[in-house]
Amino acid sequence: MAVRPTQLRRALLQSPSRLRQTAPNTIQHPELQHLLSAAPSAFSSACPFSSTITTRTQNTPDYAVPNPSRPTHFGFQTVTEAEKVERVATVFTSVAESYDRMNDLMSFGWHRIWKDYFVTSLNPGFSPLTSGLDPRAPQHILDIAGGTGDIAFRMLQTAHVVNGNPDVRVTISDINPAMLTVGKQRSTLLPASQQAALSFVEANAEDLTRTAPLSPPGTRTPAPTSTIPDASVDLYTVAFGIRNFSNIPAALREAYRVLKPGGVFACLEFSKADAHPLLNTLYKEWSFRAIPLIGQLVAGDRDSYQYLVESIEKFPSQAEFRDMIVDAGFVVGGQGYEDLTGGVAAIHKGMKPRV
Ligand SMILES: C[S@@+](CC[C@H](N)C(=O)[O-])C[C@H]1O[C@@H](n2cnc3c(N)ncnc32)[C@H](O)[C@@H]1O
Repeated sequence: MAVRPTQLRRALLQSPSRLRQTAPNTIQHPELQHLLSAAPSAFSSACPFSSTITTRTQNTPDYAVPNPSRPTHFGFQTVTEAEKVERVATVFTSVAESYDRMNDLMSFGWHRIWKDYFVTSLNPGFSPLTSGLDPRAPQHILDIAGGTGDIAFRMLQTAHVVNGNPDVRVTISDINPAMLTVGKQRSTLLPASQQAALSFVEANAEDLTRTAPLSPPGTRTPAPTSTIPDASVDLYTVAFGIRNFSNIPAALREAYRVLKPGGVFACLEFSKADAHPLLNTLYKEWSFRAIPLIGQLVAGDRDSYQYLVESIEKFPSQAEFRDMIVDAGFVVGGQGYEDLTGGVAAIHKGMKPRV
């Protein structure tokens, strides 16, 4: 029996549980056996939560085209898309130096657990859905809004060390050179092989056709010199970044454009804990009372942290955001997201369909 990887992967997408139950006992073909053994991690990257698949035809509606004068929100204020870009830049330039310390203080270190879980669930370096039979195929990971590097560094550690795949490279992309500069400084502590697999670019996630190399501190951002080509990325990640974008549908369409067929979009973001009223009340009290105060005392910047908690409040619910991902053309498995800590944060994943 000749089993092509594409056939198996289609079968996995259509009915993974049935295939897993029946195939190992009934089909002994070596290609199939190999892919089945790889499938749990590769498949869970794309459709982790059940065998139900949701997909919608991709189009580009007007609201998904960036428009500098269109109203959006900056926390609880209404501003234009262009103003939001400027004001978000001011926030992250202000918090860049204290960002990592503040993350630990604001979340009691919990953000580290979420990030570890996020990266582990994606299993970088092992059997990407964009590759053929080789479980350790080369992989290009694009970490959007990558900031000071927390996700990218974990990706390299898992891919190179845990999965023994040195052919995984990570591009950290962010609109803010101050955040990237802190990330670049931190990256000097990584093993040389991991540093060599990292690159830093400045780009707005809503238009990845215009990227520039990271500019040295204190210099002007250079004019965009490069582009992230269509279908060039195996895994696109964005952690705690997307709620800051002026036009989320535009960014989702850029994610779709740069991913290869079979490539995975994965987002870790604060979300809604409404299903747990007590937790939700405590969480809101902590967010709105303590975090701006800690921002004032530790970073000398109350307003930026006030914005950060308001931006969490304004971000869509898990189901609304899942629908935006589907509208951009991705397929999602099951309900399309996984709640972390009762929904305080959530992971959303979608796969660019193979045609
Ligand atoms: C809260 S930080 C998250 C950093 C990192 N991903 C992490 O998990 O620690 C949000 C990041 O989003 C970046 N950002 C905001 N708007 C952006 C945009 N339109 N395009 C790319 N990055 C953006 C900010 O500059 C900032 O570095």
